[in-house]
Amino acid sequence: MEPQRPSRTAWGAARHRAMHQIVEGGRIFRDPLAVAILGGVGEAEDEGLVFEKDDEPGAKMLRFFIAARSAHAEAKLAEAVERRGASQLVVLGAGFDTFACRNPFGDALRVFEVDHPATQAWKRERLAAMEIEPPRWPTFAGVDFERESFAEALVRAGFDPQRRSFVFWLGVSMYLSPAAIDATLAAVAGWPGGGEIVFDYAEPQHDGMSEQGKAARAALQARVAAVGEPMIGWLEPEALHARLAALGYRAVEDLAGIDLAERFLGPEIAAAARAARAAGQRRGGGHVLFART
Ligand SMILES: C[S@@+](CC[C@H](N)C(=O)[O-])C[C@H]1O[C@@H](n2cnc3c(N)ncnc32)[C@H](O)[C@@H]1O
Repeated sequence: MEPQRPSRTAWGAARHRAMHQIVEGGRIFRDPLAVAILGGVGEAEDEGLVFEKDDEPGAKMLRFFIAARSAHAEAKLAEAVERRGASQLVVLGAGFDTFACRNPFGDALRVFEVDHPATQAWKRERLAAMEIEPPRWPTFAGVDFERESFAEALVRAGFDPQRRSFVFWLGVSMYLSPAAIDATLAAVAGWPGGGEIVFDYAEPQHDGMSEQGKAARAALQARVAAVGEPMIGWLEPEALHARLAALGYRAVEDLAGIDLAERFLGPEIAAAARAARAAGQRRGGGHVLFART
């Protein structure tokens, strides 16, 4: 991304969550702050949530994917806190994620947000405008993942690697270089207190993708490249799983798009997803993966 500018894709992902509250009533992922963090419903871009026709190919499926990945991440986090004693959450490339302000675990879960400094400055403005009190703010660490170690920045911000920790890394890997992706996975695996991570990743285009999926992917790639955030971080599932094992991750669950649809999108879409699978579409291009050491 461009160093001096806050992330436009962060605004885009937040807009999908907000639209999901309005259009689907938060059926997949309920976030009572999703609209507010964008400034409510406004007249112009950057002044709130503008209603426009979501007619890009795959806009609805992308909205569902973004809602489902957050729902899945928050469910996995709850499991880690309640069953395995995780007491720190790191939101990597947090954008306008609102979990910190909704944290149901209170003092039992400290929340850190790591993001590009320019995006983080924009987030702080939004939180101040929402009049969210600083105790409900996360602890911020400003980092460029391509240039510096986020793990060191976290420790400087008060993170304790000896405590069991959970990471949300949503909508970020596809914007990073292979080296920055690997460094992130290695850093979480290296925490002595234990690390758990939920992240989504994009496969390179493959023959098992439908024509509709390919068109949606091409439209998304063109859109994000046009705002200076090209997708560069493609991951092959087999190679990724081998790398996770080598890094010491024990439990790994990888939900491809169809699995996610079956789990989160209700019987109608699940049936369509199964039909697509039966017709030979092995998997889509997007995955949500959970791994823990
Ligand atoms: C598509 S947004 C996702 C935001 C949020 N996780 C969500 O799901 O709404 C990508 C995020 O990654 C961050 N990001 C991308 N490249 C980065 C880099 N090199 N260093 C730090 N942050 C980066 C952006 O600032 C932005 O917040």
